[in-house]
Amino acid sequence: MSQTVRGVVAGARGKPVSIEEIVVPDPGPGEALVAVAACGVCHTDLHYREGAINDDFPFLLGHEAAGKVESVGEGVTDLGPGDFVVLAWRAPCGRCRSCRRGRPWYCFDSANAAQPMTLADGTPLSPALGIGAFAEKTLVAAGQAVKVDPRARPEAAGLIGCGVMAGFGAAVNTGGVTRGDSVAVIGCGGVGNAAIAGATLAGARMVIAVDIDPRKLDWARGFGATHTVDASAGDPVEAIRELTDGFGADVVIEAVGRPETYRQAFEARDHAGTLVQVGVPDPTMTIELPLIDLFGRGGALKSSWYGDCLPSRDFPMLIDLYLSGRLDLDGFVSETIGLDDVEEAFARMGRGEVLRSVVTFA
Ligand code: APR
Ligand code: ZN
Ligand code: ZN
Repeated sequence: MSQTVRGVVAGARGKPVSIEEIVVPDPGPGEALVAVAACGVCHTDLHYREGAINDDFPFLLGHEAAGKVESVGEGVTDLGPGDFVVLAWRAPCGRCRSCRRGRPWYCFDSANAAQPMTLADGTPLSPALGIGAFAEKTLVAAGQAVKVDPRARPEAAGLIGCGVMAGFGAAVNTGGVTRGDSVAVIGCGGVGNAAIAGATLAGARMVIAVDIDPRKLDWARGFGATHTVDASAGDPVEAIRELTDGFGADVVIEAVGRPETYRQAFEARDHAGTLVQVGVPDPTMTIELPLIDLFGRGGALKSSWYGDCLPSRDFPMLIDLYLSGRLDLDGFVSETIGLDDVEEAFARMGRGEVLRSVVTFA
């Protein structure tokens, strides 16, 4: 028996989203049906709507979600009805060449639900990042549903499913930030502020927040930034060098996704420092760097996909940090909204008014 629920669908490139009836099948082997409690509005949802990810319209949007497992399919043993879960867009397979080499965060064969969710007329939907959680219920691969402590409020918990994990992991997993490091974060939206929180928890001595929007710099202080740099007021590379005795930071995290901020991150590193790119560029962007500087400055230039996370390891840990008051997930929740308000939330996101708008379900 399938169920029909309401969901937010992007039907065509660049067109506003609409609320549609979504048909959600019962879970088959290896699948889980999740009643969504909350789902954050992320840039990637907007990118899907704009056709910037691929052309597989219609999309069922939403992917930063927490909820309760309603039922599970055959063969699912470690998850059951009533479990409180955060949904992950990576569920390592354990068998691909990367998993077999002990690097499951690069899994090349991550699982999603095998059965499609559809519109009422049977048209299959492409769920955003294999999740599709701007819907009262969604069907995922059981491995995508990660059990966490149910005392966490869903609005906050869901955010670790994407933006917070990406930023936190960029600092801690990819950047390897450790005690005593100086860290600069360029771009302090949800992702950059999570990187600031991660660097702070990892023991960084100095965390420099860089943004062109003073509101974002205020928020950054709340997440642990020790210094702030308004990049609209002067050269941020100079400012970072000045704050680090002329040397640059040990780890610089680029959380914007633009060539000019990548270049700043490259130049704002100390010798042999690490650059972590977590901002996603658009496919037309290019960058030119003097090869001698690439060689001479040494260090590491890394990109961070989903914070190089292992959901089953990292989600419960972040929730525990939240519940013990050491990670301010509530600080990322700028507002809670209804399913009908996603289009308006995209506009607020574009104006930089929010870290995250979060859809909640009654
Ligand atoms: N210098 C510094 N900060 C900048 C600049 C710039 N030139 N241009 C934009 N910013 C700031 C914005 O003011 C904003 O605070 O970068 C921040 C980007 O944050 P958001 O738009 O809220 O995006 P966020 O959700 O944090 O994601 C950042 O990471 O995962 C990716 O796709 C995501 O590319 C996006 C990036
Ligand atoms: Zn794998
Ligand atoms: Zn996202």
